[in-house]
Amino acid sequence: MKFRKTAILSGLLFSMGLAHITFADNAVDDKRISLDLPPHMKTHQLMNMRSHVEAVQTIIGLMADGNFDEASRVAHSRLGLTEEMKRMCSMFQNKDFRTLGFQFHKSADHLAEVLKTKDMKKSLDALHDTMGYCVSCHATFRQ
Ligand code: HEC
Repeated sequence: MKFRKTAILSGLLFSMGLAHITFADNAVDDKRISLDLPPHMKTHQLMNMRSHVEAVQTIIGLMADGNFDEASRVAHSRLGLTEEMKRMCSMFQNKDFRTLGFQFHKSADHLAEVLKTKDMKKSLDALHDTMGYCVSCHATFRQ
């Protein structure tokens, strides 16, 4: 009985795995909105994104070290709505993408303010909110 259940379960998992591979190959299940970016913007966007993920890692490390002031500085300068970010976000044609981008950068500025309080729980809440924008934008848009 136990053996049969295991066999059924692994059969199921195997076929799910196959289905997944088939879909991924054909990109049929990718219903995200394409930004239709020209090649040079694609490269630039990905560079910028890799910098975002690095900034998040840096912020978490600084929080763990209790260095909230530096974490706040990084949150603003690398993720916040700086003039450079404004300029970059404005280059996108898709209005909803721009709006989400601006909201994301504003949330990072809010994070920078909360980090100044040196309150770990509030800071984690704010970081969670900011990362919610990473998640929802990635779920909605692709290059
Ligand atoms: C307003 C939209 C938006 C926000 C907000 C956003 N991203 Fe992205 N990101 C994108 C798009 C679009 C891509 C390209 C995805 C694709 O084409 O599959 C991307 C790609 C990436 C990649 C892949 C980079 C590579 O070299 O392949 C990483 C890593 C990434 N984002 C990290 C982040 C992190 C971390 C955050 C939040 C701190 C974030 N992004 C916020 C839109 C966004």
